[in-house]
Amino acid sequence: MQIGVPKESAPNERRVALIPETVRRLVSAGHAINVEAGAGLQAGFPDEQFREAGATIAESAGDVAKNAALYIRVVAPAASDITALSAGVVLICVLNARTEPDLLQKLAEAKTTALAMELVPRIARAQRMDVLSSQASIAGYKGALIAAGAFGRYFPMMMTAAGTVPPAKVLVLGAGVAGLQAIATANRLGAVVEAFDVRPIVKEQVESLGATFIELPETEIQETTGGYATEQTEEQQARQQAMLAEHVAASDVVITTAAIPGRPAPKLIMAGMVAAMRAGSVIIDLASETGGNCELTRPGEVVTSENGVAIHGPLNVPSTVPNDASRLYSRNIYALLDLVIDEEGNLKLDFEDEIIGAMCVTH
Ligand code: NAI
Repeated sequence: MQIGVPKESAPNERRVALIPETVRRLVSAGHAINVEAGAGLQAGFPDEQFREAGATIAESAGDVAKNAALYIRVVAPAASDITALSAGVVLICVLNARTEPDLLQKLAEAKTTALAMELVPRIARAQRMDVLSSQASIAGYKGALIAAGAFGRYFPMMMTAAGTVPPAKVLVLGAGVAGLQAIATANRLGAVVEAFDVRPIVKEQVESLGATFIELPETEIQETTGGYATEQTEEQQARQQAMLAEHVAASDVVITTAAIPGRPAPKLIMAGMVAAMRAGSVIIDLASETGGNCELTRPGEVVTSENGVAIHGPLNVPSTVPNDASRLYSRNIYALLDLVIDEEGNLKLDFEDEIIGAMCVTH
């Protein structure tokens, strides 16, 4: 089968959907892989490595699109890329389908079958395909490093000839995949870490990483069967903010990762809470892509509050660790291809399958 891998066209996107390791496996299974020139360069995979793995290098995005039966990307194609696709093509990428109805309309008009990677269900069988997990884990790790880089003090306690320096106090809000990795990374750097999540089930996981779990007795427990948090009412949110305020004020660094699938990020840190923090403190808002967990976050920017707190709203953090982010994404895709390609090497889309049924947004 003809499989096309374009160079990502979104600004600041450095990842590539398939890396040479995966290309080699697909080529040995009999597939023809067409990779756009320069597609992997920013992730550390030059064209030469793709050629050695058996891919052909296409000069333009159009060449990749028009020949592909299977078209694999990291993020959604631009409108011009969609018009270049042949009818009947199967597109696989992260589409943010829940919040992008216009994009889905265009994909439907172009007669594509689109499988949205972010809709892989959170079931044991699909874990190897779970790009939300593989990429969120990278975001959490990098979020802690951004914090350490931006903070004007050591993370670990230091006993030096010039005296002792106390460790940084790090608070992580939201202890899902990204939050747990942020906790682990901050802890490895020597910070004293505490964390909070509306799902009390994560307490044990937080503690196993060496952090303290903040228990808020009045937090209403909400969790879907898929393991996600449900959205709180405004009143519940206000109560949570009040209870978290003293923890936020006592922290040197706050890393926020709280999210509700398909909804704006819950606001956990209001302007007044930032005003109570010490000058030089840092907030890394990893939820900035969906509006941010802090009221003062400006997505894509670093703002400094009047009292000297730096609030970072980084976007597309996984793309800043492009080599490993691409490696894990590519392995997630390979696991999915195992499900959608039969033994003869042909596409077989079983819409009754729980995974395919959940992921397919146009056909
Ligand atoms: P996510 O990115 O949707 O949310 C991040 C975290 O924010 C979650 O832990 C959520 O509870 C928390 N949160 C939401 N509202 C909050 C609030 N107001 N205050 C504080 N925290 C808040 O979730 P993520 O990280 O993608 O996964 C969540 C869970 O899904 C995992 O912990 C796990 O239980 C489950 N999961 C299951 C998998 C599987 O079985 N294949 C794979 C990955 C995750």
